[in-house]
Amino acid sequence: MLIENVLLSLLSSSLILGISARGYGMDTANRLNDPSCTGHGPWATITATQATGTSAPIAGRGPQHQPNCSHLWANNPEEDWLFASLCSWAQSNPNWVLSHLDWALDFKDFNDTPAMNFSTYDDSLNLLNPLTISYQGVNKDGNSNPNDAWWGGGFRNALLSNGYSTVDEKNNFRNGSSEDANGSVRDWAGYWALQHLIGLSATREKADQINEVIWDMWLQKSDHSPITILTSPTTTCLNRNRYYSITRNDPTNDNIVLWDPTVGGAAGYVVLDSKQLKKDTLWLFHLDWPRYSDKPRKSQSVLN
Ligand SMILES: *[C@@H]1O[C@H](CO)[C@@H](O)[C@H](O)[C@H]1NC(C)=O
Ligand SMILES: *[C@@H]1O[C@H](CO)[C@@H](O)[C@H](O)[C@H]1NC(C)=O
Ligand SMILES: *[C@@H]1O[C@H](CO)[C@@H](O)[C@H](O)[C@H]1NC(C)=O
Ligand SMILES: *[C@@H]1O[C@H](CO)[C@@H](O)[C@H](O)[C@H]1NC(C)=O
Repeated sequence: MLIENVLLSLLSSSLILGISARGYGMDTANRLNDPSCTGHGPWATITATQATGTSAPIAGRGPQHQPNCSHLWANNPEEDWLFASLCSWAQSNPNWVLSHLDWALDFKDFNDTPAMNFSTYDDSLNLLNPLTISYQGVNKDGNSNPNDAWWGGGFRNALLSNGYSTVDEKNNFRNGSSEDANGSVRDWAGYWALQHLIGLSATREKADQINEVIWDMWLQKSDHSPITILTSPTTTCLNRNRYYSITRNDPTNDNIVLWDPTVGGAAGYVVLDSKQLKKDTLWLFHLDWPRYSDKPRKSQSVLN
């Protein structure tokens, strides 16, 4: 059964705020200060900003109103898979993200969006009915500054409550179809996040089985298609067992710009050499390298 038009502000006290943080063995300190690492990155997480009103811009005060990674923060660190996926998606094309928001006919002000309809997909890539998410139900989780942008918290709540999420409402990783014979569900979370958010089939690749030329070629595709990684349990430079977004690739110097969702906001960017990144990566998640086209995916879209 589909959950339809749930006003999450009503559920927020039990469903959203009742979520407790769990560690999953993730490092909390940033490891890039190791002298063998050529990269550099953030040293501390951002601090929480309180929401001051009952409404806020969906994606910044403009003039462009485009979703970007700086708007996001996995303040529950075990939700790194979700925010890494959202960041990579926005980075590949912000309009792709906007096309999955539905506007009520009487809602045209980007700066004043007390509620929004968010669309997600089921396990078979079928579009689910949109969930109506209220700003007041989401302003505590997932946003680096809820007074500036709340699309991240909105997608978080839509995904965690659509009945198909990788985690359940108690933030336990589901033991269902997404678990493989050997692996943990967390190892598939990045795969399911891309599918459930974007509605296209995803792929999971083992980093140590990818040839270095292909690795570099693929990372460059982050300029138009979302890519995330899960780091291995033994890393040199990046935090262990952590989802990161691949956000930029400078082909002139092999430096990859990553974004760490648990650091959040504009502080979350990390730069690392692509070879070192490959060594520290266990899994790479991507779609079949589609480029967003502004052909609307649904009848009701902000871009219609
Ligand atoms: C992200 O959006 C904010 C507005 O909300 C803007 O100030 C910032 O420059 C943007 N960052 C990037 C990297 O585009
Ligand atoms: C959400 O979608 C429903 C059904 O299409 C519509 O009645 C409602 O106005 C929409 N709400 C918002 C905030 O977009
Ligand atoms: C997942 O469920 C299956 C079947 O119900 C069970 O055999 C398995 O032990 C479970 N795995 C975990 C990690 O709970
Ligand atoms: C599970 O592990 C075994 C032994 O390591 C391996 O042969 C098999 O291919 C793995 N299965 C999957 C689905 O990864």
